[in-house]
Amino acid sequence: MKITVIGAGNVGAVTAQRIVNLELAREVVILDVVDGMAQGKALDIYQSAPLVESDSRIIGTSSYEATADSDIVVITAGMARRPGMSHDDLLIKNAEIVRNVTRQIVERSPTCLLIIVSSPLDEMTYVALEASGFDRSRVLGMAGVLYAARLKTFIAMELDVAVEDVEATVLGGHTNDMLPIIRYATVAGIPVSQLMSPERSQAIVERTRNAGNEIIEHLRTGSAFYAPSAAVVSMIEAIVRDKPRIMPCAVRLNGEYGLKDVVLGVPVKIGRNGVRQIIELELLDDERTVLEHSAQMIRRNLAKLSL
Ligand code: NAI
Repeated sequence: MKITVIGAGNVGAVTAQRIVNLELAREVVILDVVDGMAQGKALDIYQSAPLVESDSRIIGTSSYEATADSDIVVITAGMARRPGMSHDDLLIKNAEIVRNVTRQIVERSPTCLLIIVSSPLDEMTYVALEASGFDRSRVLGMAGVLYAARLKTFIAMELDVAVEDVEATVLGGHTNDMLPIIRYATVAGIPVSQLMSPERSQAIVERTRNAGNEIIEHLRTGSAFYAPSAAVVSMIEAIVRDKPRIMPCAVRLNGEYGLKDVVLGVPVKIGRNGVRQIIELELLDDERTVLEHSAQMIRRNLAKLSL
């Protein structure tokens, strides 16, 4: 197994470190355009290997040659919005980065699985799909696993229960429209609705939707990266160990949920070859409306990109 992480920033570097710690790949490559950054971080991570008893070998580079024949490639490359930059400017800039990175990767690793992290997530996953020409089963966006983890954490905090007893999922776009469907959540098999008032449930849904901003407000410079990297690595672990886990991932919909030609977060059974199955949940009318609205917003953004 060879895993490459593009972007040695906060999410990329901690993702690489977690892969090494869990020994999920024999070879790990981390690449960044900033010369020296990936090299320095890779050396630092490599020197932790004896301490965490891992035999993974990690190298840092700014050249794509070292990425050849990767099995999984995680794309975290991108830029954050700068003062004076609109959301559209960022969309166009990051689309350019993700398109370029994808082409370079696919040229050298034509059979890899792609996991996209760069923002805006649903749109960047679509860009990577188009640029790679891959089947949709091999291009997954990470957002739902992170938001589901946030939802589970808030439920565990509220009820004072162990996080591992909490099961919950989210649907939809990586936007304010995201749908944490708490009515499907359980604690040790017990529906959360039997353990918590509707008002507390609603407060938790709102906190989950705003969880990324809550962290940005504390950090001021930069955004969340510990939970995002853990989310990416849980997807990688399911793929590497070929565990048929059901996880909310951003995938291209071909009619599922009544939607086409758009990437959105839905429950997906994953495994060694990527997407095995897309699971269609029964939704209430207002949930379906939110999902359709997300799809519309994402399509509007995609129309701004020359794909
Ligand atoms: P960061 O700014 O720390 O790292 C981004 C890295 O990408 C930088 O080191 C930069 O030099 C590199 N980069 C830029 N252009 C590149 C190129 N063409 N090739 C290779 N590397 C390039 O940002 P952070 O915190 O690591 O976040 C990375 C991305 O992930 C951002 O777009 C962020 O918004 C997104 N994100 C998405 C989440 C999700 O749920 N999908 C959660 C957290 C972050």
